[in-house]
Amino acid sequence: KVTALIMAGGKGERFWPRSRVNMPKQFLSLTDDGKTMIQLTVERISPIVDIKDVYIATNENYRELVKTQLPGLPEENILCEPIGRNTAPCIGLGAVHVAKKNEDAIMIVLPSDHLIKNNEIFKDTFVNACNIAEQGSNLVTVGITPNYPETGYGYIKYNKSDVLDGSFAVERFVEKPDLENAKKYVDDGTYLWNSGMFVWKTSTILDCFKKYMPSTYEGLMTIKDSVGTADEEKVLKEVFPTLESQSVDYGIMEKASDIYTLAGNFGWDDVGSWLAVGRIKENDDKGNVVNGNVVTVNTENCVIEGDKKLIATVGLRDMIIVDTPDATLVSTKENAGEIKQVLAKLREEG
Ligand code: GDD
Ligand code: MG
Repeated sequence: KVTALIMAGGKGERFWPRSRVNMPKQFLSLTDDGKTMIQLTVERISPIVDIKDVYIATNENYRELVKTQLPGLPEENILCEPIGRNTAPCIGLGAVHVAKKNEDAIMIVLPSDHLIKNNEIFKDTFVNACNIAEQGSNLVTVGITPNYPETGYGYIKYNKSDVLDGSFAVERFVEKPDLENAKKYVDDGTYLWNSGMFVWKTSTILDCFKKYMPSTYEGLMTIKDSVGTADEEKVLKEVFPTLESQSVDYGIMEKASDIYTLAGNFGWDDVGSWLAVGRIKENDDKGNVVNGNVVTVNTENCVIEGDKKLIATVGLRDMIIVDTPDATLVSTKENAGEIKQVLAKLREEG
């Protein structure tokens, strides 16, 4: 039995001001087809996983958004965290719900905010990943060939000669290295980026929690006992906030053994910032991506997202302009990664 857990609790701060606390990236459409990122994620996995076996882990605040955007999903499959505790508790919560029905079920864990170019290759990759996860207690990751030293990703050192059904054994998993190390890994040629997608048996990941995050495991077991009882909501509200806020990458993947990686050659983009929109959406003949009521003169290589108001630009290069009714962003492309600092400042100033 194959199930999927889609992680959709992230805040998506890098898409401010279009993404807000109440409307993060996974619920926005950033592509020309008008579908939101979470809708695309569910659609992409549908050839392998029945919608009845798809679980969405998200924050309580996004329950209604998930319901509206995914009308075919059973309501009880929306797992709402009372407070965000990062991806380890999120995956643990998914695992206990799946385990309650079937301990041996395979879990495909997917972020809700990535773009994939080739759905056919994506499907084949995951069919293969499920097959590898079936064999023993393997943790299967999907790796992407790195082309620059990104410090916001995990790196997977794999062993080219240790092969299992088209996947490679992983020697080391390093989450978010500093720039110096990231450069080494890219030059080395035996590292892949971690795509943040995982496949394992539910029992395998729960064993990992027991081994590497024992106090989280205890909390998860308390939550598991309550699933389906009258106390379920009360127990979740009490126990979940006490779980350690930790990502699965630091909490489990860096420590675990029996990790395998499959190459993900399906055209992956984690859409990390407004820069990605310039890559993904259709460009005009000057390399601009414009949306809304926009007039450009002598403007090249810009991303311009308007709302109702007319935006006119003259003589701009490599800029990002995003206008919403109550906030406007003007940034260079070069500094797009620093938009998070605006939010930090806004929080400071209350
Ligand atoms: N339900 C829930 N609860 N979901 C969450 C939470 C949470 O507390 N925190 C994050 N998520 C969701 C996000 O919405 C996203 O879809 C996914 O989990 C991954 O979280 P990110 O916060 O985006 O992780 P990251 O980008 O820093 O790093 C991960 O992804 C990289 C690739 O994009 C790691 O797995 C890296 O190793 C990896 O390279
Ligand atoms: Mg991410």
